[in-house]
Amino acid sequence: MREGRFSSAVSEIAQSQSQSVSFDRRLYRHDIAGSIAHASALASAGILTADEFEMIARGLREIENEIAAEKFVWDQSLEDVHMNIEMALTKRIGPAGAKLHTGRSRNDQVALDLRLYVREEIDQIVTRLRALQNALLLLAQKHYQVLMPGYTHLQRAQPIYFAHYLLAQLEAFERDHERLRDTRHRADVMPLGSGALAGSTIALNREAIAKALGFQRVTQNSIDAVSDRDFVADFLYSLAMIGIHLSRFSEDLILWSTSEFGFIEFSDAFATGSSLMPQKKNPDMAELTRGKSGRLIGNLVTLLTILKGLPSAYNRDLQEDKEALFDSVDTVRSALEVFSAMLPELTINRERMESSANDPQLLATDLAEYLVGKGVPFREAHAIVGKLAASGKQLNALSDEEFRAASNALEEDVHEVFDIRKALQRRSATGSPSPENIERQIARWRELLA
Ligand code: ARG
Repeated sequence: MREGRFSSAVSEIAQSQSQSVSFDRRLYRHDIAGSIAHASALASAGILTADEFEMIARGLREIENEIAAEKFVWDQSLEDVHMNIEMALTKRIGPAGAKLHTGRSRNDQVALDLRLYVREEIDQIVTRLRALQNALLLLAQKHYQVLMPGYTHLQRAQPIYFAHYLLAQLEAFERDHERLRDTRHRADVMPLGSGALAGSTIALNREAIAKALGFQRVTQNSIDAVSDRDFVADFLYSLAMIGIHLSRFSEDLILWSTSEFGFIEFSDAFATGSSLMPQKKNPDMAELTRGKSGRLIGNLVTLLTILKGLPSAYNRDLQEDKEALFDSVDTVRSALEVFSAMLPELTINRERMESSANDPQLLATDLAEYLVGKGVPFREAHAIVGKLAASGKQLNALSDEEFRAASNALEEDVHEVFDIRKALQRRSATGSPSPENIERQIARWRELLA
């Protein structure tokens, strides 16, 4: 590539700063698929003979097999995956190989490879996200009658079913799924034919290339096509949100696994010991997942920072998009796999959860709402119950006289308020944790995930 314009080789330190082949070799399958589709368009345009196309396609497939078998020798002096493959092809098949790059730049080539990569990885991550959602659903089904206290500000607030909590996680991961679907749609545009920034005098059938590679659309502006990494930013944001959801979920599980809560126990296969304290069992998988969400956010910020000051069209800074992208993909893939495998092995300590939920103070709001039912304005009811709660006594231990003294509206039937399961039955609006709603939600998810 330097033969024409340059009189000396690039310096060694410049080469090591410049090379990307140590990481972008990961794109080889996509690079080869793109080159075969491009070569086919060159043949249709009369630039390559049918024989030359055959030689190129066969040569590229052989190279692909060699790379897959780890027999391919990568050369850092050739900078990146694109040049490595093209040079290997020309070495293998001669002059026909030297025609492959006609009407193409590495700028549109790398944009294409990245889009193919993102599309494929989204599909992989969606599969793993679905597996996690299924694991959550199974857990919700298995423990759908288990009560627990629900918390706000980490203070016991109101009783819920454990299943309601699990279904809340399913909702968040479903939004992640939607985000990935949107991102896939935006990545699904074919940029080849944009050249360095201004297309090419050689008219290639871009629609045919798109069709061969399974793209829905072709890019409509060659400058934008080589500039655009929005789909990478969308993907990194989607991955960061998955990380944040996993992190918050982790935090709950870590807390609930403490002796103070004792609601759950991680299986030995997903816990680690202390090098010093023999009695300890640590929730490291959840902690690491919580920690790794930091990298996911960092990778998104890395890309946004690279993009913010760039002049239009391709600039070499864009090479820096890849390590952040690959790292986020690897991190999320493995976290999702760990969680899907870890959840079915959780021990749920039903007694502990239910005895914590069996706290009449958690029904203070229900008591206020009982008063509302008797015609007391809510603010007044709130104050009456607040005073009773502040008395230090358990609300269900108050005598009829004590209730009467607080308000005439607190009649004999007030004691019925303190049946937790009935209290949950009364929470019947869409989205609330009545047992009927939970069963309906479980059925809905079963259908959605089938
Ligand atoms: N390795 C480069 C990248 O990842 C490929 C494109 C290089 N283009 C160029 N004009 N040097 O972005």
